[in-house]
Amino acid sequence: MPKVTFITENENTTLEVTTGKTILDLALDHDIDIEHNCGGNCACTTCHVIIREGMNHLSEMEEEEEDRLDTSPDLTLSSRLACQALIKGDCVVEIPKNTQAFRKAEQH
Ligand code: FES
Repeated sequence: MPKVTFITENENTTLEVTTGKTILDLALDHDIDIEHNCGGNCACTTCHVIIREGMNHLSEMEEEEEDRLDTSPDLTLSSRLACQALIKGDCVVEIPKNTQAFRKAEQH
């Protein structure tokens, strides 16, 4: 199973995942809260993440995502929208500070 590592301001979390999930779904399933103001409809940029490794292990970027990302003030060459990128293999995902909402209370 692919492994996805999330890098946040405070910690790194590595999760195993079945292929075909979006980065956003995987994160939210594991209480890693990424802003997602439009509910995953490619209509905002609040779920912007930076792919540190494994860009080729994600689904190809569609034109709609590309156009939307172009409006992000924090755009990088490794940017993706977490709600649009389907996981196909190992990758390392940085959640920029302004994309992080909060970690839910489950942490011990
Ligand atoms: S949640 Fe709005 S574009 Fe991803």
